Amino acid sequence: MSKSFRPRRSVLYVPAANEKALAKAPSLACDVVVIDLEDAVAPSAKEEARARLAGVFAGRGEGGPDLVIRVNALSSPWGVDDLAAAAACAPNAILLPKVDGPKDVLAADDLLDSLDADPAIRLWTMIETPKGMLNLGPIAELGRDRAARLACLVAGTNDLAKETGVRMTPDRRWLIAWLQQIVLAARAGGLDALDGVCNDFRDLDAFARECDDGRAMGFDGKTLIHPAQIEPANRAFSPSPDEIAEARAIVDAFALPENVGKGVIQIGGRMVERLHLAQAERLLSRA
Ligand code: COA
Ligand code: MG
Repeated sequence: MSKSFRPRRSVLYVPAANEKALAKAPSLACDVVVIDLEDAVAPSAKEEARARLAGVFAGRGEGGPDLVIRVNALSSPWGVDDLAAAAACAPNAILLPKVDGPKDVLAADDLLDSLDADPAIRLWTMIETPKGMLNLGPIAELGRDRAARLACLVAGTNDLAKETGVRMTPDRRWLIAWLQQIVLAARAGGLDALDGVCNDFRDLDAFARECDDGRAMGFDGKTLIHPAQIEPANRAFSPSPDEIAEARAIVDAFALPENVGKGVIQIGGRMVERLHLAQAERLLSRA
């Protein structure tokens, strides 16, 4: 994979209608801030929220989190103006909500091209509608087409629950099958995958459990709603000291003269193949 690695462990939504929160966003320790024009902004505040974007980007210094803008759906009364305003800010990415299929991504891509938007601006998509779930394969396939800008799938668990009637429980047992489909599709398309939000932002134990589950499912990181969730998400989605030690042991073992020509070895009674070496090298490069 040629793209350079950027961590996406902690991805915090900040409502564009909340001036105070917005001012804080660039200095937060999350990997990404998503400035939200969609679900977190009331219809009466949409224009005012959009007008704030330019100010946030004008004050953007070096470093700090990547900045992503979540626009309203292009089919909504605000979507086209949102996309134009977002493109003018040149964020790292624009997050499209309520994506039902590849056509929704391509429509946004065409509009960005017609606006002469910076080709470096990526598209991220929410996966949060029943149709979006059913069309995951064709959506993710766009990740193989660099011109389509697609870089990341984001689980929208609140909307999925609303649209399907699935019950949200602390262990997320009725959602897990869909979350795993999202990770699978992302990998098929060479995309990043982000887990949905944990609404109960005061319960950091429950949050830590969700992070561990998300990591175990293969997600690259978690979407967040509150600054208190940043540090635990960063921790959960970073390689642990044990994982780093295990990866080093694998790399060291394959470097031994007696193992140079071998495809498979054993370490402490466990089979280790060269695919594990590749996995270990990838983990160390990210640690
Ligand atoms: N981004 C940046 N700062 C945030 C924040 C966020 N998402 N959520 C809270 N804060 C700030 C508050 O402004 C407050 O700052 P202050 O101490 O300077 O006043 C501080 O963190 C503590 O906030 P707290 O009192 O614990 O929560 P709250 O009642 O102000 O806000 C929510 C609670 C849920 C309304 C708020 O966290 C929020 O809007 N989250 C994002 C919602 C969203 O974007 N949803 C769409 C995607 S699902
Ligand atoms: Mg949503």
